[in-house]
Amino acid sequence: MRNRLAVLLVCALPLTLVPAPALAGGAPPAVALGSVIPAPVEVRADGTSFRVTPRTVVVAPASARPVADRLVEAVREATGYRLAVVRHAPRHASAITLAPDRSGGEDYQLSVGRKGVTIRSGGNSGLFNGVQTLRQLLPLEAPWIVAGGTIVDRPRFAYRGVHLDLARHYHTPDEVKQYIDEISQFKVNHLHLHLSDDQGWRIQIDSWPRLTSVGGAAGTGVDGVGGGFLTKAQYRDLVRYAAARFVTIVPEIDMPGHVNAAQVAYPELTCDGVAPPPRTDTAVGYSSLCIGKEVTYQFVEDVIRELAALTPGPLIHIGGDEAHATSQADYVAFQQRVLPLVGKYGKKAYGWNEITQAPASHTAIAQYWNTGRTDPTLAAAVAAGTKVIMSPANRAYLDMKYDPSTRLGLSWAGYIEVRTAYDWDPGTHVAGVPESAVLGVEAPLWSETLRSIEDIEFMAFPRLTAIAEVGWSPSRDWESFRTRLGAYGPRWTARGVGFYPSPQIDWAG
Ligand code: ACM
Repeated sequence: MRNRLAVLLVCALPLTLVPAPALAGGAPPAVALGSVIPAPVEVRADGTSFRVTPRTVVVAPASARPVADRLVEAVREATGYRLAVVRHAPRHASAITLAPDRSGGEDYQLSVGRKGVTIRSGGNSGLFNGVQTLRQLLPLEAPWIVAGGTIVDRPRFAYRGVHLDLARHYHTPDEVKQYIDEISQFKVNHLHLHLSDDQGWRIQIDSWPRLTSVGGAAGTGVDGVGGGFLTKAQYRDLVRYAAARFVTIVPEIDMPGHVNAAQVAYPELTCDGVAPPPRTDTAVGYSSLCIGKEVTYQFVEDVIRELAALTPGPLIHIGGDEAHATSQADYVAFQQRVLPLVGKYGKKAYGWNEITQAPASHTAIAQYWNTGRTDPTLAAAVAAGTKVIMSPANRAYLDMKYDPSTRLGLSWAGYIEVRTAYDWDPGTHVAGVPESAVLGVEAPLWSETLRSIEDIEFMAFPRLTAIAEVGWSPSRDWESFRTRLGAYGPRWTARGVGFYPSPQIDWAG
């Protein structure tokens, strides 16, 4: 709906607004080849250009048809043209060709010449990445001329993620899909869903049905606003929707802390067997599973088993943060039993960096969310084999306010303007955590203050693009980034995405 409106608006612009040279045959491209976010590895402009017309065809083998469909969708959104998909280009056709080759899965090469565009990659994920680049090279207004030359591109880190908290305020499947649509345009390839916390439980678990009938009921969540949960069918549908955009869903059940909602539903999960009152405030660190009770491990195993069965992706996130109501000895004992359970169901365990207190974390992935540049416990775990995903809260937390005047968000980790989100290096950020131990970056978005998709978009954009570039591009260049970001702004406006107009950026349009 928003997209159709944008197309109408663009078409409604009087022709006199189009610069005269752009109407000529050899019109200059409106978007420079090097203007892409995240910045590609190598860009070689050659002064030619390609014009997309209604007769342009998409050429793709059957194996690349899912990517071709996304390309057709994107071109229709941008231009209004419904391009045909064919297996072989007719002679002299104007064509956008998806060409599988032998390069790595996410790597791609995009060549734009007078007669067409070719995207080559060894994998559909790479072809999809090339399509996202092409989308940014299409101008916002006709004529649809793409700058000529070659882009050779590959990610610095395999894992580029965002996180979304459905527990503090529930966000509907349609809102999550809108977020996936946006993040995938910046080559973000993981979506971590925070599905349980003190205030609510947001995923159907058949063996413990009160988790959602009570923990996901109307009125659960911060301020008692909202409520809701994902049925298994809705979750599977989200997994499919994300996969079609080369985004892997990573589900999180937070434990042994952040479990008040589960204990309200099942009092046997407390040590005294008494149900605590439901919570709708934003305090943390007061709840804990009962580490000495066997029912705790039956519960945890049932949840992990059902979640693993629903999740084709390789990771299950088991939380582990802020377990202030669990003694350290109990915490380690809990993790020593629970971390291996994830492996039992065929998945790799992922948890907040506190899990590195447990030796069993040496085969797991730790998500670094602290604000310091040193963490001896993490460094020791890394030396023993733990891999790390970087989410330092003072750089990557999208729920931190931009500045003191930001209406939404929190500020316990500081204010994060765009440059703060951009100017850091995951490969050197924490002492004793070398780049070889870093799988990538993730930008968490906690929902204590966020209710709607508009709230999500305002906090995520534009900062998420900074984190996306930190995760994808081989190096950072603030001046280049701020120029490219300023030029990108009108694209969000055209799609109806209400981004934060950071004063650090000279916004076009
Ligand atoms: C966290 O922000 N508690 C991981």
